[in-house]
Parts: sequence; structure tokens; C-alpha cells
Amino acid sequence: MKITFYGHASLGIEVGGKNIIVDPYISANPNAAHIDIDTLKADYILLTHAHGDHILDVEAIAKRTNAVIVSNAEIAGYYGAKGFQSHPMNHGGSWNFDFGKLKYVNAIHSSSFPDGSYGGNPGGFVIEGEHKNVYIAGDTALTMDMKLIPMRTKLDLAILPIGDNFTMDVEDAIIASDFLDCDKILGYHYDTFGYIEIDHEESIRKFFNKGKDLMLLEIGSSIEL
Ligand code: NI
Ligand code: MN
Repeated sequence: MKITFYGHASLGIEVGGKNIIVDPYISANPNAAHIDIDTLKADYILLTHAHGDHILDVEAIAKRTNAVIVSNAEIAGYYGAKGFQSHPMNHGGSWNFDFGKLKYVNAIHSSSFPDGSYGGNPGGFVIEGEHKNVYIAGDTALTMDMKLIPMRTKLDLAILPIGDNFTMDVEDAIIASDFLDCDKILGYHYDTFGYIEIDHEESIRKFFNKGKDLMLLEIGSSIEL
């Protein structure tokens, strides 16, 4: 499994021979100006919730690639009504896709579309690939529900928001990694706006002091699991 960071909460995941884009907010992110959304491969687009900083480039990417948009039932329905391919899910449900098993799990946040449409309830995803398992938290507070995830899935990586203000901060993300029984963390949802700027060195040190590995990727760079 290969995971590429496209800035903010945007990810590319190669798993099971398929290409997945998660929460694409790239074309308006000045930090990601070197990423051209017209070059991104996508068989699927996973959306954690409907906020503008997670869906901005969905339609452009889906129109070009014909990717299947996977999200909660309300978001999937919103895009389905516009003629896009979609797959509706809801909390606690899993589906065996051709890239692996995907579960939609709880997040504590909100989820309206920028135009005011109802975006259902926000979530995160657990991907069980052929060899590795990953949790993508989405925008969320620290929640006890995270303890449920390792009861079913041994995680190899947890992708957690760490920018504070709209989501968990670093300290809560450290507790989350305990709940998730996963000491390998990819941080996201930081630095994009003034509200969520973080001190990289200090954040990495705080995880390190608890025996945990926080990775902060350059935008456009990847890790291989
Ligand atoms: Ni949000
Ligand atoms: Mn967000």
C-alpha cells in the first residue's frame, strides 16, 4: 500500500492495484500549487464529510476519471443526483471493494455542503488491504469510539488530524493512537489555514516522547507500507 499526501486532508492511496483519492482539496491550496489534479489517477474517491476543504476537487476528478464516489448515504446521493457514480455507506457498515474491505466509522464533527445541502454525519474510513490496514480519521475530535477499531482490525497506520481548532490537537491525537493501538501516525489537517498552524518539530517530539512515530509528509511525497 502506497500513501501520498496531497496537502491538508487530501490523500492518494494505491492498494490492490487500484487508485483511491481521499478528500481532495488541492487546487485552492497554495501549499499544493505543484500538484496538478488533472494528473491524479482515481478509481475511487472517498469522502469523510461534505465540508469545502474536503470536496473542492471531487467533481473535476470524478468527471475526468469516472471514479466511484464513496461516502455516507447523503453525500453519495448528492453526487449521484448530479450523475456521478457513487456508493452510499453509513456508520458501522463495511463493503468488500475490489481494492479491499472498507468500513465507514464514526467521527465527531459536522458535515454540511458549502451550498448548505445536508451532508449527513461525518465519518472516517478503515481500509483493510491485502497486506496492510489503515485508518483515516477524517475531521474529528478525540472519541471513545476509536477504541472499537482495534477490536476488529489491527492497524498498520493511523492518519489523524492534528491541527487543533476544528479537530483534535497533537495531545488528543496521542491519546487517539493509544485508543487505536497504533503507534505509527501520519498527521494531516494542519498548516493549511491560520487556525491550524502547528510546530512540526514539537509535534514530532511529543509523539516520540510517548514512544510513537508521527510522520509529516511533504506535499506530493509518499510512504510505502
Ligand atoms: Ni470539516
Ligand atoms: Mn476540514
